[in-house]
Amino acid sequence: MSNITDRKADHIQLALAKEHQGAAISGFDRVQFEHNPIPEMALSDTSLNAEFLGHALKAPIIIGAMTGGCENGDLINQHLAEAAEQCKVVLALGSQRAALELDLKQNVRKWAPKAVILGNLGATQLQQQGCELARKAVESVEANALVIHLNPLQELIQPKGDRDWNQVLDAIHECCSTLLQPVIVKEVGSGIGPTSAKKLIDAGVSWIEVAGRGGTSWASIEMARNQSAHEKLIAQPFIDWGMDTVTLLPQLARLSEAPYLIGSGGVRHGLDIARCIRLGAPMSALAQPFLKPALHSTEAVIETLSILSEQLRWTMFLTGCKNLQQLAKAPLCGN
Ligand SMILES: Cc1cc2nc3c(=O)[nH]c(=O)nc-3n(C[C@H](O)[C@H](O)[C@H](O)COP(=O)(O)O)c2cc1C
Repeated sequence: MSNITDRKADHIQLALAKEHQGAAISGFDRVQFEHNPIPEMALSDTSLNAEFLGHALKAPIIIGAMTGGCENGDLINQHLAEAAEQCKVVLALGSQRAALELDLKQNVRKWAPKAVILGNLGATQLQQQGCELARKAVESVEANALVIHLNPLQELIQPKGDRDWNQVLDAIHECCSTLLQPVIVKEVGSGIGPTSAKKLIDAGVSWIEVAGRGGTSWASIEMARNQSAHEKLIAQPFIDWGMDTVTLLPQLARLSEAPYLIGSGGVRHGLDIARCIRLGAPMSALAQPFLKPALHSTEAVIETLSILSEQLRWTMFLTGCKNLQQLAKAPLCGN
């Protein structure tokens, strides 16, 4: 196995452990809907139908970026892709770097011929290798859009991580101007604030995935992998670094009338998805909640999607909302 694929296997094992989840700081519990004891509708009147990148979806859910879609018995991706196809939700691939560098076959379209699939590369790979890599990533899986991930804290803590982030915004700008497909930019757990979001919108980015603090903690995962006592001591104060999703979403929603926000980072159930919608993010991405089911089977992923959808539906019923547009305006407690 190469270093990149070894690292990926470590990440999957560590992400399953509770100690690397920052749930205590996600802040989602602070968002309370005003309960509607007279909904004046039936549960079956609710519609979860959504639209993303011009495609109709059965729910506003993105299976968050985790693995890169290559062969080598990559069952996780097969299970995620088949479930996304059957349930008509979006599949975001994890970094395709290893697949492209090692020239591995990426099979995801075999399992999900029609689903909306998002390709994925790190911003520093684009800064180092240019936009041709972005084109290859998209073409290799016929992706509907490319996601570029920003992870400077993870790179600092990761042994031999990328520490030169010069010209990263230029690389994103170049991708937005040259790729035929839309570009989405995401963090991995420290969040994207309004100052950076403005720069990304100006660079031509179509959607921003917040990936705030409080979900999977990459600082914590990389600390567990790092063998250097010296580096661990430096990293210690940064273990909870970042901004939480709930604080960021309303600030980011004010920047644009057009829908462009994906809520993520600590989204753990359908009620959290409803909270993201109410705070201004029409779509939500969840990574860690799909990891265990994805290791098991396609049916287990479908069951997780069904539970998430039903929880979202219940929230709509208990707030008297028939569709996602109404949910986006549902009254909150204390407002
Ligand atoms: C096992 C695992 C692998 C991940 N790999 C990637 C990746 O390759 N590219 C990426 O953009 N994000 C990656 N992420 C980050 C997630 O997409 C997400 O932004 C982050 O985990 C926060 O969401 P969560 O709290 O729902 O897990 C990964 C997450 C997990 C759990």
